[in-house]
Amino acid sequence: MTERSLVLIKPDGVARGNIGEIIGRIERKGLTFAAIELKTVSEDLAGSHYAEHKEKPFFGSLIEFITSGPVVAAVVEGPRAIAAFRQLAGGTDPVEKAVPGSIRGDLALETGENLVHGSDSAESAQREIALWFPNLASS
Ligand code: CMP
Repeated sequence: MTERSLVLIKPDGVARGNIGEIIGRIERKGLTFAAIELKTVSEDLAGSHYAEHKEKPFFGSLIEFITSGPVVAAVVEGPRAIAAFRQLAGGTDPVEKAVPGSIRGDLALETGENLVHGSDSAESAQREIALWFPNLASS
């Protein structure tokens, strides 16, 4: 069954010139793009996107980081797209969890600056796509 996931290339990925590398990996896997946009993230959007982390000690730094520069926001599509992108991304901690061969395992060092975000469930994907791409949400 075709699925959609929200994918973000975070400010560190854009600043480090990793957009092409990350998009290339997504395309090589066989996923396609239903939408893609370079975007500056407002505090409002950041807070809504990360609402589930509001009580976490790192919430402030998370918001500061995601609003620190442009991100690439995309809707990635394909069979099991949510799990497929999470496999490509690797675990949240780029050193302890992400395996070599994954985006974070190969290219990142810190949990707070881990290059990409991908929706973690069908419910999150629906919520996040509605937030970032309201025109696409119902299609
Ligand atoms: P992401 O997939 O974007 O979802 C939540 C983000 O919070 C996560 O990636 C990390 O970048 C960040 N995060 C999770 N745990 C920590 C932590 N202990 N310290 C700093 N940032 C964190």
